[in-house]
Amino acid sequence: GSPVRVALLGCGTVGTEVVRLLEDQAADLAARVGAPVEIAGIAVRRPHRHPGVRQDLLTTDAAALVAREDVDVVVEVVGGIEPARTLLLDAIKSGKSVVTANKALLAEDGAVLAEAADAAGVDLYYEASVAGAIPLLRPLRESLAGDRITRVAGIVNGTTNFILSAMAESGAGYADALEEATRLGYAEADPTADVDGYDAASKAAILATIAFHTRVTAADVHCEGIRRVTAADIAAADGLGCVIKLLAICERVPGAADASESVSARVYPAMIPKAHPLAGVDGAFNAVFVEADAAGQLMFYGQGAGGAPTASAILGDLVAVARNRVGGGRGPRESSYARLPVRPMGDV
Ligand code: HSE
Repeated sequence: GSPVRVALLGCGTVGTEVVRLLEDQAADLAARVGAPVEIAGIAVRRPHRHPGVRQDLLTTDAAALVAREDVDVVVEVVGGIEPARTLLLDAIKSGKSVVTANKALLAEDGAVLAEAADAAGVDLYYEASVAGAIPLLRPLRESLAGDRITRVAGIVNGTTNFILSAMAESGAGYADALEEATRLGYAEADPTADVDGYDAASKAAILATIAFHTRVTAADVHCEGIRRVTAADIAAADGLGCVIKLLAICERVPGAADASESVSARVYPAMIPKAHPLAGVDGAFNAVFVEADAAGQLMFYGQGAGGAPTASAILGDLVAVARNRVGGGRGPRESSYARLPVRPMGDV
């Protein structure tokens, strides 16, 4: 078939790996999709910072790239709310499918993107936005689509899990563990979103939305980070046979006689018994526990961050979207999601 043409917005740690995988696996991808998947252009802020990338593909004008008629799919790995929101909405309205890793945008405005995508008849895929390489969102919304998910709980931030694991292993204080995480490249220069729990809260909002077919935003998620966890807290937990992990917990709250069912989503440092499978998840790894009526308990485990692992999830989405372009299919529709009441934490 005729090539599926991809506009890439952003070319940092993840984007660079997306380009590499698309080039290295071009022949296999073409066979899997039924048409070649080609890069039409790459929008970056400073082209001279990308010497390893084909210079003729680079542009600083993301809006013009998104508007190009020869572009079929827009892949966004810039992050943040704007200009990503405007660019993706423009892409969708002009009939392009979207693959994004942007958890902050999805957790704030996922409903707007989903409605626009359904109205335009295009795909919106975002597996890379939660738990990096771990196949999680598609299992929740496709493999478990016939079941009733009751709970999704897990470790969805690698930076904080690295810090808490380092504190538990060496008895180090929070500040020293954060410094080590920064030195090893796990924590970002500004680790606020990680250590204050906002990154995990965005992911919890996305998970709750998909798991419960409802609309949960980051503002609905009760959020407490790890800044105030001390070496003494970790030692005390250890004495009780527990470890401390930053957990994201999303669950259905059954309705009482006078109230309908609601949803609760929260992020906080929790004590978990050492025998629990999540207790052994250390370093920068992620793991998510899912409970569903018929399936029972499931656990998803793997690398939740990093260039290649996150690019793996993006490529998987890209193949799905490209196959739909070639075969005329469509991914799951989300615009029908209603809004279940969201419980504040103290209510549960
Ligand atoms: N800062 C995130 C983490 C990156 O530490 O898990 C992946 O979303």
